[in-house]
Amino acid sequence: MKPIRVGICGLGTVGGGTFNLLTGNAEEIRRRLGREIRVEMIAARRTNPACDTSGIRTTADIFDVARDPEVDLVVELIGGYDTARELVLTAIDHGKHVVTANKALIAVHGNEIFEAAAAKGVNVAYEAGVAGGIPVIKAIREGLAANRINTVAGIINGTGNFILSEMREKGRDFADVLAEAQALGYAEADPTFDVEGIDAAHKLTILASIAFGMPLQFDKAYTEGISEVTPEDLKYAQELGYRIKHLGIARRRTNGVELRVHPTLIPESRLIANVNGVMNAVMVAGDAVGPTMYYGAGAGAAPTASAVVADIMDLARSFEHPACAVAALGYAPGELQPLPVL
Ligand code: HSE
Repeated sequence: MKPIRVGICGLGTVGGGTFNLLTGNAEEIRRRLGREIRVEMIAARRTNPACDTSGIRTTADIFDVARDPEVDLVVELIGGYDTARELVLTAIDHGKHVVTANKALIAVHGNEIFEAAAAKGVNVAYEAGVAGGIPVIKAIREGLAANRINTVAGIINGTGNFILSEMREKGRDFADVLAEAQALGYAEADPTFDVEGIDAAHKLTILASIAFGMPLQFDKAYTEGISEVTPEDLKYAQELGYRIKHLGIARRRTNGVELRVHPTLIPESRLIANVNGVMNAVMVAGDAVGPTMYYGAGAGAAPTASAVVADIMDLARSFEHPACAVAALGYAPGELQPLPVL
């Protein structure tokens, strides 16, 4: 069988991790898929010293990848809203499937992107956009597909959880831990997205749409970050037997859906209170299965690449069997309900 030809846009933390995973685990991937995934082309503003890209076509212009006739699938890892939107829509317009780790893009422009993709008969996958390496989108959309989901709640920003954990456990300074999260490649290009809850709200918006079968409504989510949490808050919470965790909470109510992101007091005996560092944990409750919990690294090059590459493999399978492709939000065309956000 012919290889799947992938074009990677962006060779930063996640792009570099994706390239290295695709090449490093190429044989494992080929055996699982029954065909090779080949990196056909890379668009990057600068080289990544962690990646040996010799022999691979490179360009500085991401739109070269979106239009290239030798590329079957475009991997968008540049981040941001506007250029990423244009890139993804261009790729779709040229009949390419798309994998992205860009939660901001999906939360804000996802409705338009999914509509364009459906019209062109291509797929868009974005597992890596939520909770890093944890396959929580697949869990809700596929594993729990028979359930009426009532609640999705969890720690969905690794940087914020790393900051709160280090402040509480080691008495470290907020700014100092944030600088370390940036150096480790956990934080967003604009770290206010992490500390003001915007990144978590992007992710919660996506999870809620998949869980409840409604269009994405990022602008309706209540969003509060961790920048006001002080060492004293963490200390007093601990003295009272609680931990402060930054949670995203999506709940189905009789007349709509609640979407909120904010610091929350949690009794220290609860599982989620003990999720520390860059780890994320998401609780999903369905009417048949009851509560379920998903845990793992929420940020970082290799964990995020794990989800990107799994998405590439999923879409590669749908090339052969288009009927097996899962709709972007997991609901059949025309079946999303415009539930109000309360
Ligand atoms: N900045 C994000 C986080 C990256 O810390 O969770 C992963 O989405």
